Amino acid sequence: MARLRVGILISGRGSNMRALIDAARDPGYPAEIAIVVSNVAGAGGLAVASAAGIKTATVDHKAFAGREAFELALDATLREADVGLVCLAGFMRLLTAGFVGKWHDRMLNIHPSLLPAFPGLDTHARALAEGVKIAGCTVHFVRPKMDAGPIVGQAAVPVLPDDDEAALAARILAAEHALYPAALRLVASGQARVIGEKVQIGSGTPAAAMLLNPPVD
Ligand code: GRF
Repeated sequence: MARLRVGILISGRGSNMRALIDAARDPGYPAEIAIVVSNVAGAGGLAVASAAGIKTATVDHKAFAGREAFELALDATLREADVGLVCLAGFMRLLTAGFVGKWHDRMLNIHPSLLPAFPGLDTHARALAEGVKIAGCTVHFVRPKMDAGPIVGQAAVPVLPDDDEAALAARILAAEHALYPAALRLVASGQARVIGEKVQIGSGTPAAAMLLNPPVD
């Protein structure tokens, strides 16, 4: 079966991008990474992608008169690479409804919280400030509203008593690296589909165990 061609958009170090590239090395994985595009020239992730033999491009938002001109160039770059699905992976530009509409149900994002809790920035600090006992990350289809849209999957991690922002971020990031390839697999294989603004997952998905924190004897 033909693999789904995926374009990854990044702005920074690209550790989630790397997790997706690594997963797609398996010829049995239902997606292949066709291109990595950064809006930041010299973003660390570009070198990582190049070293892995992936085509890269920079579409620098600062080089365009406005958001729409930038997005037209971004869209053209993705289409030239014959991309069928876009994965945002630490892409730090808000996208207009026009661009999001062009990729409706064909664009995923990963966010370091259990959405709909803590959308936006500073998620780890806010989770710590609220004293939540379980944190995590979410992969969702992108809609015009920031950090909202049908949820493909979530991974939960405990918040431990001595956590600071860095410790919690590292624990969540490790979960992100497991969740994003798993979620993309479900979408690319057609097992996860948006129906009525919720994602339905095909049968055969094993039920997860309950995560209880603090643990109860
Ligand atoms: C991740 O925490 C992701 O959830 C958020 O931005 C961060 C990107 O990290 N959207 P990386 O560039 O993938 O390492």
